[in-house]
Amino acid sequence: MEIIIAKDYDSVCELAAEILTGVVAANPDATLGLATGSTPLGVYARLVSAVSDGALSLAGCKSFNLDEYVGAGVNDAHSYAYYMRENLFGKTDIDPRNTHLPLGTAPDLAAECERYTALLAANRRDIQLLGLGSDGHIAFNEPNTPFDSHTHVAELAESTVKDNSRLFANPDDVPRYALTMGIADIMDARKILILACGANKAQAVRGMVKGEVDERMPASVLQRHADVTVILDEAAAELL
Ligand code: F6R
Repeated sequence: MEIIIAKDYDSVCELAAEILTGVVAANPDATLGLATGSTPLGVYARLVSAVSDGALSLAGCKSFNLDEYVGAGVNDAHSYAYYMRENLFGKTDIDPRNTHLPLGTAPDLAAECERYTALLAANRRDIQLLGLGSDGHIAFNEPNTPFDSHTHVAELAESTVKDNSRLFANPDDVPRYALTMGIADIMDARKILILACGANKAQAVRGMVKGEVDERMPASVLQRHADVTVILDEAAAELL
Protein backbone atom coordinates (compact mmCIF):
# COMPACT_ATOMS: atom_id res chain seq x y z
CA MET A 1 0.00 0.00 0.00
CA GLU A 2 1.26 3.44 -0.81
CA ILE A 3 0.14 5.84 1.91
CA ILE A 4 0.05 9.56 1.30
CA ILE A 5 -0.79 11.95 4.11
CA ALA A 6 -1.97 15.27 2.77
CA LYS A 7 -2.48 18.47 4.73
CA ASP A 8 -6.24 18.74 4.43
CA TYR A 9 -9.33 17.70 2.48
CA ASP A 10 -8.53 19.96 -0.48
CA SER A 11 -5.04 18.52 -0.85
CA VAL A 12 -6.47 14.97 -0.67
CA CYS A 13 -8.89 15.80 -3.50
CA GLU A 14 -6.21 17.52 -5.56
CA LEU A 15 -3.94 14.47 -5.41
CA ALA A 16 -6.80 12.04 -6.10
CA ALA A 17 -7.95 14.07 -9.11
CA GLU A 18 -4.38 14.07 -10.45
CA ILE A 19 -4.20 10.27 -10.17
CA LEU A 20 -7.55 9.77 -11.92
CA THR A 21 -6.63 12.27 -14.60
CA GLY A 22 -3.34 10.43 -15.11
CA VAL A 23 -5.16 7.12 -15.63
CA VAL A 24 -7.41 8.69 -18.28
CA ALA A 25 -4.48 10.50 -19.94
CA ALA A 26 -2.66 7.16 -20.26
CA ASN A 27 -5.79 5.41 -21.55
CA PRO A 28 -8.62 7.65 -22.84
CA ASP A 29 -10.90 4.58 -22.95
CA ALA A 30 -10.31 3.78 -19.28
CA THR A 31 -12.89 1.91 -17.22
CA LEU A 32 -13.46 3.78 -13.97
CA GLY A 33 -14.90 2.48 -10.73
CA LEU A 34 -16.58 5.36 -8.92
CA ALA A 35 -17.83 6.06 -5.41
CA THR A 36 -20.35 8.44 -3.87
CA GLY A 37 -20.54 9.95 -0.37
CA SER A 38 -19.04 13.21 0.85
CA THR A 39 -15.39 12.39 0.33
CA PRO A 40 -15.24 12.27 -3.51
CA LEU A 41 -17.17 15.53 -3.98
CA GLY A 42 -14.00 17.64 -4.15
CA VAL A 43 -12.44 15.14 -6.55
CA TYR A 44 -15.42 15.28 -8.89
CA ALA A 45 -15.45 19.09 -8.76
CA ARG A 46 -11.84 19.05 -9.96
CA LEU A 47 -12.57 16.57 -12.75
CA VAL A 48 -15.51 18.75 -13.87
CA SER A 49 -13.20 21.80 -14.00
CA ALA A 50 -10.54 19.86 -15.90
CA VAL A 51 -13.11 18.77 -18.49
CA SER A 52 -14.51 22.28 -18.87
CA ASP A 53 -10.96 23.67 -19.25
CA GLY A 54 -10.26 21.12 -21.99
CA ALA A 55 -7.51 19.48 -19.91
CA LEU A 56 -9.43 16.20 -19.59
CA SER A 57 -12.00 14.27 -21.57
CA LEU A 58 -14.11 11.40 -20.25
CA ALA A 59 -15.76 10.88 -23.65
CA GLY A 60 -14.11 7.49 -24.15
CA CYS A 61 -14.49 6.27 -20.54
CA LYS A 62 -16.91 3.82 -19.03
CA SER A 63 -17.86 3.99 -15.37
CA PHE A 64 -19.23 1.57 -12.80
CA ASN A 65 -20.42 2.81 -9.43
CA LEU A 66 -20.06 0.91 -6.21
CA ASP A 67 -23.59 0.98 -4.91
CA GLU A 68 -27.16 2.26 -4.80
CA TYR A 69 -29.82 2.38 -2.10
CA VAL A 70 -32.56 -0.22 -2.42
CA GLY A 71 -35.78 1.56 -3.41
CA ALA A 72 -34.02 4.72 -4.63
CA GLY A 73 -35.11 5.63 -8.16
CA VAL A 74 -32.75 7.32 -10.59
CA ASN A 75 -34.61 10.63 -10.16
CA ASP A 76 -34.82 10.44 -6.38
CA ALA A 77 -32.61 13.21 -4.97
CA HIS A 78 -31.12 10.77 -2.44
CA SER A 79 -30.19 8.17 -5.03
CA TYR A 80 -26.60 7.68 -6.03
CA ALA A 81 -27.66 7.83 -9.69
CA TYR A 82 -28.88 11.39 -9.03
CA TYR A 83 -25.70 12.25 -7.10
CA MET A 84 -23.51 11.08 -9.97
CA ARG A 85 -25.49 13.08 -12.55
CA GLU A 86 -25.40 16.20 -10.37
CA ASN A 87 -21.74 15.99 -9.45
CA LEU A 88 -20.02 14.41 -12.43
CA PHE A 89 -21.86 12.81 -15.31
CA GLY A 90 -24.14 15.74 -16.14
CA LYS A 91 -21.24 18.20 -16.05
CA THR A 92 -18.68 16.34 -18.14
CA ASP A 93 -18.48 14.80 -21.60
CA ILE A 94 -18.88 11.21 -20.40
CA ASP A 95 -21.53 9.41 -22.47
CA PRO A 96 -24.43 8.67 -20.07
CA ARG A 97 -24.91 5.32 -21.83
CA ASN A 98 -21.44 4.33 -20.61
CA THR A 99 -22.21 5.06 -16.95
CA HIS A 100 -23.47 2.22 -14.79
CA LEU A 101 -24.93 1.80 -11.31
CA PRO A 102 -26.94 -1.01 -9.80
CA LEU A 103 -30.64 -0.21 -10.15
CA GLY A 104 -32.18 0.39 -6.72
CA THR A 105 -35.72 -0.05 -8.02
CA ALA A 106 -35.14 -3.33 -9.88
CA PRO A 107 -38.19 -5.57 -9.37
CA ASP A 108 -35.98 -8.61 -8.82
CA LEU A 109 -33.01 -7.57 -6.68
CA ALA A 110 -31.27 -10.95 -6.89
CA ALA A 111 -31.40 -10.81 -10.70
CA GLU A 112 -30.11 -7.24 -10.60
CA CYS A 113 -27.15 -8.32 -8.46
CA GLU A 114 -26.36 -11.09 -10.94
CA ARG A 115 -26.63 -8.67 -13.85
CA TYR A 116 -24.26 -6.19 -12.20
CA THR A 117 -21.74 -8.87 -11.19
CA ALA A 118 -21.63 -10.13 -14.79
CA LEU A 119 -21.23 -6.57 -16.08
CA LEU A 120 -18.30 -6.00 -13.72
CA ALA A 121 -16.67 -9.25 -14.74
CA ALA A 122 -16.85 -8.16 -18.38
CA ASN A 123 -15.52 -4.67 -17.59
CA ARG A 124 -12.51 -4.83 -15.33
CA ARG A 125 -11.90 -1.44 -13.74
CA ASP A 126 -8.58 0.26 -14.50
CA ILE A 127 -8.97 2.22 -11.30
CA GLN A 128 -11.47 1.95 -8.46
CA LEU A 129 -12.08 5.02 -6.31
CA LEU A 130 -13.21 4.24 -2.76
CA GLY A 131 -14.22 6.07 0.39
CA LEU A 132 -13.95 4.45 3.80
CA GLY A 133 -16.76 3.94 6.30
CA SER A 134 -16.08 4.81 9.93
CA ASP A 135 -16.66 1.10 10.68
CA GLY A 136 -14.19 0.06 7.96
CA HIS A 137 -16.72 -0.64 5.22
CA ILE A 138 -15.82 -0.27 1.54
CA ALA A 139 -18.78 0.23 -0.77
CA PHE A 140 -21.53 -1.13 1.53
CA ASN A 141 -19.57 -4.20 2.51
CA GLU A 142 -20.07 -3.95 6.24
CA PRO A 143 -18.02 -5.85 8.86
CA ASN A 144 -18.22 -9.64 8.40
CA THR A 145 -19.00 -9.50 4.67
CA PRO A 146 -17.16 -12.43 3.05
CA PHE A 147 -14.05 -11.42 1.11
CA ASP A 148 -15.25 -13.56 -1.82
CA SER A 149 -18.57 -11.68 -2.15
CA HIS A 150 -19.95 -10.27 -5.41
CA THR A 151 -22.77 -7.75 -5.89
CA HIS A 152 -25.40 -8.33 -3.22
CA VAL A 153 -28.06 -6.65 -1.14
CA ALA A 154 -26.45 -5.40 2.06
CA GLU A 155 -28.08 -4.32 5.28
CA LEU A 156 -26.38 -1.13 6.43
CA ALA A 157 -24.79 -1.22 9.88
CA GLU A 158 -26.41 1.00 12.53
CA SER A 159 -23.29 3.22 12.54
CA THR A 160 -23.56 3.66 8.75
CA VAL A 161 -27.26 4.58 8.99
CA LYS A 162 -26.26 7.13 11.63
CA ASP A 163 -23.36 8.50 9.52
CA ASN A 164 -25.66 8.82 6.48
CA SER A 165 -28.51 10.45 8.42
CA ARG A 166 -26.82 13.86 8.07
CA LEU A 167 -28.02 13.89 4.48
CA PHE A 168 -31.71 13.27 5.29
CA ALA A 169 -34.20 15.68 6.85
CA ASN A 170 -35.93 12.82 8.65
CA PRO A 171 -33.67 10.12 10.17
CA ASP A 172 -36.41 7.53 9.52
CA ASP A 173 -35.92 8.10 5.77
CA VAL A 174 -32.30 6.88 5.78
CA PRO A 175 -32.24 3.71 3.69
CA ARG A 176 -31.28 0.52 5.49
CA TYR A 177 -30.47 -1.62 2.47
CA ALA A 178 -28.26 -1.09 -0.54
CA LEU A 179 -27.15 -2.98 -3.61
CA THR A 180 -23.38 -3.07 -3.43
CA MET A 181 -20.43 -4.39 -5.36
CA GLY A 182 -18.91 -7.21 -3.36
CA ILE A 183 -15.39 -7.29 -2.00
CA ALA A 184 -14.21 -9.68 -4.73
CA ASP A 185 -15.54 -7.26 -7.37
CA ILE A 186 -13.66 -4.37 -5.78
CA MET A 187 -10.44 -6.38 -5.53
CA ASP A 188 -10.65 -7.17 -9.26
CA ALA A 189 -9.82 -3.55 -10.17
CA ARG A 190 -6.30 -3.09 -11.53
CA LYS A 191 -5.64 -0.15 -9.23
CA ILE A 192 -7.42 1.04 -6.08
CA LEU A 193 -7.45 4.60 -4.80
CA ILE A 194 -8.98 5.00 -1.35
CA LEU A 195 -9.55 8.35 0.35
CA ALA A 196 -10.32 9.06 3.99
CA CYS A 197 -10.64 12.38 5.76
CA GLY A 198 -11.49 13.40 9.31
CA ALA A 199 -10.83 12.06 12.78
CA ASN A 200 -13.94 9.83 12.70
CA LYS A 201 -12.13 7.68 10.09
CA ALA A 202 -8.87 7.34 12.06
CA GLN A 203 -9.72 4.04 13.75
CA ALA A 204 -10.85 2.45 10.47
CA VAL A 205 -7.72 3.76 8.72
CA ARG A 206 -5.57 2.11 11.36
CA GLY A 207 -7.44 -1.19 10.95
CA MET A 208 -7.18 -1.00 7.16
CA VAL A 209 -3.45 -0.29 7.09
CA LYS A 210 -2.02 -1.88 10.22
CA GLY A 211 -4.64 -4.34 11.44
CA GLU A 212 -4.96 -8.04 10.77
CA VAL A 213 -6.56 -8.89 7.41
CA ASP A 214 -9.93 -9.96 8.76
CA GLU A 215 -13.53 -9.88 7.54
CA ARG A 216 -14.44 -7.95 10.68
CA MET A 217 -12.53 -5.00 9.13
CA PRO A 218 -13.55 -5.05 5.43
CA ALA A 219 -10.97 -2.48 4.26
CA SER A 220 -8.13 -4.62 5.65
CA VAL A 221 -8.56 -6.83 2.55
CA LEU A 222 -6.87 -4.06 0.56
CA GLN A 223 -3.55 -5.14 2.10
CA ARG A 224 -3.82 -8.12 -0.28
CA HIS A 225 -4.14 -5.96 -3.42
CA ALA A 226 -0.97 -5.29 -5.40
CA ASP A 227 -1.69 -1.66 -6.30
CA VAL A 228 -3.42 0.44 -3.65
CA THR A 229 -2.93 4.14 -2.99
CA VAL A 230 -4.35 5.49 0.26
CA ILE A 231 -4.71 9.26 0.57
CA LEU A 232 -5.49 10.62 4.02
CA ASP A 233 -5.75 14.00 5.61
CA GLU A 234 -3.83 14.53 8.84
CA ALA A 235 -6.85 13.85 11.06
CA ALA A 236 -7.62 10.49 9.43
CA ALA A 237 -3.94 9.51 9.75
CA GLU A 238 -3.62 10.42 13.41
CA LEU A 239 -3.61 6.82 14.72
CA LEU A 240 -1.00 5.50 12.26
C1 F6R B 1 -20.20 5.30 -1.38
C2 F6R B 1 -19.77 4.15 -0.58
C3 F6R B 1 -19.40 4.26 0.86
C4 F6R B 1 -18.68 5.56 1.23
C5 F6R B 1 -18.35 5.57 2.71
C6 F6R B 1 -17.70 6.88 3.14
O1 F6R B 1 -20.44 4.92 -2.71
O2 F6R B 1 -19.74 3.08 -1.10
O3 F6R B 1 -18.58 3.18 1.20
O4 F6R B 1 -17.52 5.68 0.47
O5 F6R B 1 -19.52 5.36 3.47
O6 F6R B 1 -18.64 7.91 2.96
P1 F6R B 1 -18.25 9.45 3.12
O7 F6R B 1 -17.31 9.77 2.01
O8 F6R B 1 -19.56 10.17 2.99
O9 F6R B 1 -17.60 9.59 4.47
